[in-house]
Amino acid sequence: MAVSGIVLLLFVFVHMLGNLKLYLGAGPLDAYSRWLRTAGEPALPRETLLWAVRIVLLAAVVVHVQAAYSLTRVNRRARPEAYRSPRDYVAASFASRTMRWTGIIVALFVVFHLLDLTWGTANPDFRAGDPYHNVVESFQRWPVAIAYIVANLALATHLYHGAGSLFQSIGLLFRRRRAFATAFAAVIAAGNISFPLAVLTGVVS
Ligand code: HEM
Repeated sequence: MAVSGIVLLLFVFVHMLGNLKLYLGAGPLDAYSRWLRTAGEPALPRETLLWAVRIVLLAAVVVHVQAAYSLTRVNRRARPEAYRSPRDYVAASFASRTMRWTGIIVALFVVFHLLDLTWGTANPDFRAGDPYHNVVESFQRWPVAIAYIVANLALATHLYHGAGSLFQSIGLLFRRRRAFATAFAAVIAAGNISFPLAVLTGVVS
């Protein structure tokens, strides 16, 4: 869970940084998207590097979901009988208790996100190779913008617990891991939520 989590953590960070090019305008964001497809050329054929990254990402998602499933089974086996009275949580935070739900929300979001901005089937005016236009078209619809904001709040909650506990899983108990997890989740949430807000308020158009 921790190793696949690190791969996914790196992806969300790099993806958020790349998306900040939205603030530089259509030219830089579209050029970045072209670069993602041509990186490695001419040594490698077009999209080879992109597909290599996609395969690693997909493998990380599969391992992550499988690990979550077996962890749930281990937990159930450890206590097959439900608690009789409401529990008074001491160590388990809200984020840790809702990992399954925030994980499911993020997974559903990613499916919609691919339909919206990669394949374009959920986008009213999708133009291949023009992510700036596609993002603006998408976020101009306020229900979609709100869905992105809610999904990114769920992602931040998931990251807050995940980024903190993964260091515990791999045996790195450094003192500042809670602070790191808080800062990481806050930076990702601030960056990602700023995009729909910027389009809704007309800062990006
Ligand atoms: C508001 C925040 C976000 C924006 C504006 C955004 C924007 C985009 C855009 C424009 C693309 C298409 C890129 C291209 O075709 O060149 C894309 C692809 C993608 N995004 Fe996001 N994204 C956001 C958040 C996220 C989050 C939170 C995740 C994951 C948890 C995510 C996962 C992906 C994936 C897996 C792809 C497909 C990459 C590929 O294989 O081509 N995105 N995103």
